[in-house]
Amino acid sequence: MRRIHHVGIVVTRLAEAYPFYRETLGLPLLKEAVIPDQGVRAALLACGDTEIELLEPLGAVSSVGRFLAKRGEGLHHLCFETPDIDAALGRLKEKHAELIDQAPRAGLAGRIAFLHPKACCGVLVELATPTETEHAVSAPVRLKRLVIGARDVKETTEAFQSLFGFPKVAMNGGPRTMLAVGRGALLIVPSEEVGGTEGMVALSLVAEDFAALMAAFDRAGARCLRGAGEVTLERPASHGVHLHISRYE
Ligand code: CO
Repeated sequence: MRRIHHVGIVVTRLAEAYPFYRETLGLPLLKEAVIPDQGVRAALLACGDTEIELLEPLGAVSSVGRFLAKRGEGLHHLCFETPDIDAALGRLKEKHAELIDQAPRAGLAGRIAFLHPKACCGVLVELATPTETEHAVSAPVRLKRLVIGARDVKETTEAFQSLFGFPKVAMNGGPRTMLAVGRGALLIVPSEEVGGTEGMVALSLVAEDFAALMAAFDRAGARCLRGAGEVTLERPASHGVHLHISRYE
């Protein structure tokens, strides 16, 4: 796995999410398309060396429509890029990983396949092999890490390591673990630290120009909690995502 290709976020309507994600946060739109197969209208936005995928359900019966009805807007799935999705799926089958897709299909990010959330302790994981060359597009923020709540940190860490081979990043003890994925990382924390949530709980981004971003937040009247060199968005402002943005690594 080369990198976190994108983080998928379910929103009620793309048009309502664009003012925050495209204008206030300033993420460039890479593509937008209807994917009938997944019952969504989806958009990919550049976010450093990864991307944010916004998903609008086309109806209430699709899995994304059911997710929205049950949980509201928010983090939905995580996608890793692999150079050869057929080989990657083959290796996952050898490991008896539970899969939603037994064979790759066409998605917005290229040829894609979903694992069952049970395979990764409650995190819905997608794999993608882009079919066209993606050109680096600069963005004012980039992904630093994705926070995952785990009932058992060791078990979740081992699930991601055994399926995808991510190396551990040294941490100074404590109950958390961190796995490196390209330039980004997965931070796995005990679910009791994050209100009992199992699965994806928060995104941490780094701003290239923090002062300019704060000025954009002021202009938009974004509801947030500000500290020295960091800001946390309240969930309605960021469409259900606990979003933490900092000035530094
Ligand atoms: Co996706």
